[in-house]
Amino acid sequence: IKKIGVMTSGGDAPGMNAAIRSVVRTCAYYNIECVGIYRGFEGIMEGDFRPMDARSVKGIVNKGGTVLKSARSKEFRTPEGRKIAHDQLKNAQVDALVVIGGDGTFNGGLVFNKEFDFPVIGIPCTIDNDIFGTTHTIGFDTALNTVVDCIDKIRDTASSHNRLFFVEVMGRDVGHIALNAGVGAGAEEILIPEENLGLDRLLESLHRSKRSGKSSSIVVVAEGDKIGKNVFELKDYVEANMDEYDVRVSVLGHMQRGGSPSCFDRVLASRMGVKAVETLLEGKTNYMVGLLNEKIELTHLREAIKGQSKIDRELLRVSEIMTT
Ligand code: F6P
Repeated sequence: IKKIGVMTSGGDAPGMNAAIRSVVRTCAYYNIECVGIYRGFEGIMEGDFRPMDARSVKGIVNKGGTVLKSARSKEFRTPEGRKIAHDQLKNAQVDALVVIGGDGTFNGGLVFNKEFDFPVIGIPCTIDNDIFGTTHTIGFDTALNTVVDCIDKIRDTASSHNRLFFVEVMGRDVGHIALNAGVGAGAEEILIPEENLGLDRLLESLHRSKRSGKSSSIVVVAEGDKIGKNVFELKDYVEANMDEYDVRVSVLGHMQRGGSPSCFDRVLASRMGVKAVETLLEGKTNYMVGLLNEKIELTHLREAIKGQSKIDRELLRVSEIMTT
């Protein structure tokens, strides 16, 4: 392998830049050429490549977002699109890819490898933490800190006005942000897609909180929660069924994806970038680098995107005890 392409794809996450930097610097360390690919798979098809050396990634370890930009590509999902992408990589003499992103990114990498036998290694980077084969994806820790910080602030105003707040956090299909940030911020109730609490139990729990002397409450809701109602409908429902609370809603939205990465995410990204390049140099392909038992380990990309739930049952139990 003489030239590695690095790209970011899908929803951005804090720490993406630290991962790019690590890949670029590891290539420089091993005297391999590195090209940055702009806007993910879209950029491969357009041949939007720029050479990157160790100095070109200076001053980005602490920056949110991604200097390589990100996109979700429809055309790359077609065989024609992937053929164009392969031709572009061949023309530029790129002979391996490091793809930084989530399950959509890894899926694209796997299909591409299957069709063209092109070496691909994945680095998990999404605030959702919905990837198997790693306890933490890059960006998750920063997003948790952002959410906890916001909920602390919401708590101030909630308690001043004796209000109940529904706080919606990201997590299209998973409740990792909701569960962890909910426990960290001392939420009274946490609603996640992996568990269906049900509306009756929610009401019962809110009544219980009130009876136990709480004057304000925070309910953290993952956007993909399966209770069947969005936060605004939940507000209406609770207001229609309980008059003890004055209810408000706060949707945290994309602020969860921004900001300077935490030290944990920067270190994780640096470790993963080194391992990704070294794995390619060992002649391996179709692996994702992940953090398991504090060590950087490889998991096949197919396993990483299998879609199993890795919700922490022990933390669920802790949250139940904490919300009594
Ligand atoms: O990156 C994953 C995610 O953060 C989801 O939790 C959320 O539903 C989605 O991105 C939002 O994506 P978009 O930027 O396309 O609105």
